Amino acid sequence: MTKTSSFNAPKGIPDYVPPGSAEFVAVRDTLVRAARSAGYGHVELPIFEDTGLFARGVGESTDVVSKEMYTFADRGDRSVTLRPEGTAGVMRAVIEHGLDRGQLPVKLCYAGPFFRYERPQAGRYRQLQQVGVEAIGMDDPALDAEVIAIADAGFRALGLDGYRLEITSLGDDSCRPQYRELLQEFLFRLPLDEETRRRAELNPLRVLDDKRPEMREMTAAAPLMLDHLSESAKVHFDQVLGYLDAIGVVYTINPRMVRGLDYYTKTTFEFVHDGLGAQSGIGGGGRYDGLMAQLGGQPLSGIGFGLGVDRTMLALQAEGKTAADPARVDVFGVPLGEAATQRLVVLAARLRAAGVRVDLAYGGRGVKGAMKAADRSGAKYALVLGDRDIAENEIGLKDLATGDQRQIALDDAVGAVSEALAHDR
Ligand code: HAM
Repeated sequence: MTKTSSFNAPKGIPDYVPPGSAEFVAVRDTLVRAARSAGYGHVELPIFEDTGLFARGVGESTDVVSKEMYTFADRGDRSVTLRPEGTAGVMRAVIEHGLDRGQLPVKLCYAGPFFRYERPQAGRYRQLQQVGVEAIGMDDPALDAEVIAIADAGFRALGLDGYRLEITSLGDDSCRPQYRELLQEFLFRLPLDEETRRRAELNPLRVLDDKRPEMREMTAAAPLMLDHLSESAKVHFDQVLGYLDAIGVVYTINPRMVRGLDYYTKTTFEFVHDGLGAQSGIGGGGRYDGLMAQLGGQPLSGIGFGLGVDRTMLALQAEGKTAADPARVDVFGVPLGEAATQRLVVLAARLRAAGVRVDLAYGGRGVKGAMKAADRSGAKYALVLGDRDIAENEIGLKDLATGDQRQIALDDAVGAVSEALAHDR
């Protein structure tokens, strides 16, 4: 790697540059397309918001809020925070624009960067990219299944198959408080260290996520939410599973799943890829009954997901697959001389207007350099033009894979090139 700048990107923050950036775009767009196919409308929301929105929405007891937020005072001395996740901001916007007063459910989709001050490692960045959806205002198990099926379809469309969907129910107001007490009773009987005890007081579920072997052992017999669901929460969960079976989405029930955000209720899920080591979550989400009311809106339930674009790229790599079209352009122009450059510049613009991706050899560096550039571009064809061709109103169309070249009419080059490309597809 050559380094010519005295600055580097901030620690843990990835750049996306060619050729890898083509993979990034392909992954992001494929996941977005899966959401679009189910009628989710695009939202583009602020990268930073009032700090209180995340503190209240995501939960003060989460690592995301207590340890990982990029929070600063702006020049007007307001506390603002780079968004660590998307759901709270979407909820704020839905309330602010009264979208929940129209037809329900409100179905929204977003893609972009989020920021968490985590310890950087493979697959864990401080600026991470997500594609997310939120479906708000309808507490229908069929909608839970739709959201999960979209994520699954997005991953499948990329060609991924080495992942599994884990799912559970975190219960609701009618059973969670009692379960919480039950779990605390169990935990307080254990010889917990001070920090774990504090966690058990604040958010006992999180203790079940403790990865230390001695804690795993101690909590192996802990009561599980799934065994203590209220009748309505249980019916909801069973119906979600029934829909997933019917659609053909494969899942495993993981009753010990603990998510990093506090707003989840009922259906909660994670997509886990085995080829990624410690940072194996390629996406996750769930239902959130209380979030909207907590942010000052109507008491409407919602469900959504956030899919990690970065980790999905790593998952593809782990499976030896690619989502990107390796070709930058379809056609590469090779002008031999000044008059040819003038003609090819115009022809390139016309071809682009006709939907063909075109690049040219610039700088008059001669045929050898230009042909090398053509090969590197990944183009299917080179358009080779010299003075004699111009005189004869012709241009050479060279198949870069086979080396075959034929002459086509210069006047009709747009039509002939489009036809040749269509023929290859
Ligand atoms: P999350 O599980 O915190 O959920 O993040 C979703 C996905 O973002 C993860 O599964 C992972 O792939 C990716 N991700 C998270 N942190 C990092 C990181 N530091 N580096 C790379 N990738 C990362 C949410 O954010 C929820 N808002 C999802 C949701 C929407 N729930 C309901 N609606």
